[in-house]
Amino acid sequence: MTQPLISVENLSIKFHTDEGLITAVDKISFDIAPGEVLGLVGESGSGKSVTAKALMQLNSSNTVYTDDSRITLQTDDGTIDILELKKAKELNLIRGGAISMIFQEPMASFAPAITVGKQMVEQLMLHSSMTKKEAREHAIDMLDRVGISDAARRFDQHAFEFSGGMRQRAMIAMALSTKPKLLIADEPTTALDVTIQAQVIDLMKDLVEEFGMAILFITHDLGVIAQTADRVAVMYLGELVETGSVRQVIREPAHPYTQGLLNALPKLEKLDEPLTPVPGDIPSPLERPSGCVFHTRCSQFIEGTCDASIPSVTALADGHAAACFVVDQAVRGKTEVPA
Ligand SMILES: Nc1ncnc2c1ncn2[C@@H]1O[C@H](COP(=O)(O)OP(=O)(O)OP(=O)(O)O)[C@@H](O)[C@H]1O
Ligand SMILES: [Mg+2]
Repeated sequence: MTQPLISVENLSIKFHTDEGLITAVDKISFDIAPGEVLGLVGESGSGKSVTAKALMQLNSSNTVYTDDSRITLQTDDGTIDILELKKAKELNLIRGGAISMIFQEPMASFAPAITVGKQMVEQLMLHSSMTKKEAREHAIDMLDRVGISDAARRFDQHAFEFSGGMRQRAMIAMALSTKPKLLIADEPTTALDVTIQAQVIDLMKDLVEEFGMAILFITHDLGVIAQTADRVAVMYLGELVETGSVRQVIREPAHPYTQGLLNALPKLEKLDEPLTPVPGDIPSPLERPSGCVFHTRCSQFIEGTCDASIPSVTALADGHAAACFVVDQAVRGKTEVPA
């Protein structure tokens, strides 16, 4: 197997809050290979954004990463231990360089008082050896590539002068212009209407193929994941409950939570039937359930087991795994020879 581009091992993220220390992410591990698109899916509050931000150390100052949390990135100059980076200078080389991020709300990526072009040029000059003139040409070319017409004129405008869809495209152009090894896309299409959403997804796919970059694609929409990702990681209350290829997770979901998310999707042939969302709400991180964190909402809950101990990860097939007692018992039932 090729060496992963980025490895997340035992990542735990806690926040100091007025109510005490809360756990937002609990010992998660995953890898992303070079050029791979990993979809990270889960309901609101499951910890997707804080995980993504950890990859660039972008979480707020009240964040605690536990001592055994490790995030390693492979670069041309060797392995970088991201959570060990302390100096702003070191971090700025990663941010927008090896790793770029696009956000749900594109305004967050642009400084309001500076033109889009100037920001793109500044970022390019920081992360490459381009001259100002070369950076300008490259930035205009990137704006043109993402489908912004009259790119040379738009280059001198501010983000607030762009329409929503255009801002999203400009943000993608800026994020991709430095040819990052990893692009983090945190719900990049949620705020867009469906037609523009499809265009943006197609655009990202084309550019990824051309630049060979890996993507961490975050969404709560499994439909979008099916269109974009190679592999999927399903997150619930700060834990990874199931991982596998898109085909494995969508065709043969093993974890009851993944099954619930898939059942909640509207089905074209049954548009008249009411949708069946996963029952209940995701608990607050202040009230993490004992045992399996999903047991309070699980239709297959086994009393005395699921509420008592934490399930370990069960391997199902090549690259497909789930953390669930029900899955584990089913697998054991199949493999254990009766006495
Ligand atoms: N700076 C912070 N201080 C305290 N708690 C935080 C902070 N940032 C995030 N959290 C908490 O961590 C948990 C995970 O948040 P996160 O933003 O990662 O969720 P998410 O999966 O991205 O949800 P969404 O789909 O709504 O974007 C939430 O309970 C959130 O309230
Ligand atoms: Mg989020």
